[in-house]
Amino acid sequence: MHRSAQTALEPSADGPQHIAIIMDGNGRWAKARGLPRVMGHRAGVQAVRNCVRALGDARVPCATLYSFSSENWKRPASEVSDLMGLLKEYIKADLAELHHNGVEVRIIGTRHGLDPEIIQLIEATETTTRGNPNLKLTIAFNYGGQNEIVEASRRIAMDVLAGRLDPQALSVPLFARYLATDGLPDPDLVIRTSGEKRLSNFLLWQTAYAELVFVDKFWPDFSAADLSDAISEFKRRTRRFGGLNAAREG
Ligand code: IPE
Ligand code: IPE
Ligand code: MG
Repeated sequence: MHRSAQTALEPSADGPQHIAIIMDGNGRWAKARGLPRVMGHRAGVQAVRNCVRALGDARVPCATLYSFSSENWKRPASEVSDLMGLLKEYIKADLAELHHNGVEVRIIGTRHGLDPEIIQLIEATETTTRGNPNLKLTIAFNYGGQNEIVEASRRIAMDVLAGRLDPQALSVPLFARYLATDGLPDPDLVIRTSGEKRLSNFLLWQTAYAELVFVDKFWPDFSAADLSDAISEFKRRTRRFGGLNAAREG
């Protein structure tokens, strides 16, 4: 579905406001078909395209996709280079459509260590799409949650040293402003494909009260129907945030 970047769409009121997805299982998807791992990653990019369109159609206001972790450098150099190449290809091929559909793209994670062409593409993507009114799409690339918290702490310490911040003023919301996700609501729904049940260093701070949904499919097989099932599952959950749910238990 195509829509103009100029028209803002109403978000769905009872659905998740921010879905964060751990796109896992590309390698096993390929292995199950006797293909090299890179073919799984290629199929994974197609699943990203379908998923981003489905997120827009479902009027989800924010989404974050985990596409390369700070620990993924431990993989063979050829796989790392395939994954870097695919990010470049994805941006080059899809930027125009994303912009046309009013998607605002932000890339979080460490830029240090990335090749200059990727950094330039990331910056161009963010500049082009800044302020677009529909889906806020964050791509976590070369991202690690622990490192993000350390970086935030370092910047807080520097502000304190420079006299710009009173340590007594530090609070949970103020700390969050130093994170890469500043300005986004915390994810209320985290989806992980492939059957693994862990966070793997994804959005550790931000997922404090997220609902977790684990899907027993490899990422390349994740469809719009699977997204819709996960959203339905989210709507059935009782969220308490440590208190009581007034409607159901009050
Ligand atoms: C997810 O698929 C993509 C990345 C982590 C980059 P994997 O490559 O982790 O696939 P599996 O988990 O080995 O099947
Ligand atoms: C998490 O998947 C990272 C991404 C999906 C980008 P991994 O495949 O790297 O996670 P582990 O190693 O199984 O925990
Ligand atoms: Mg994996």
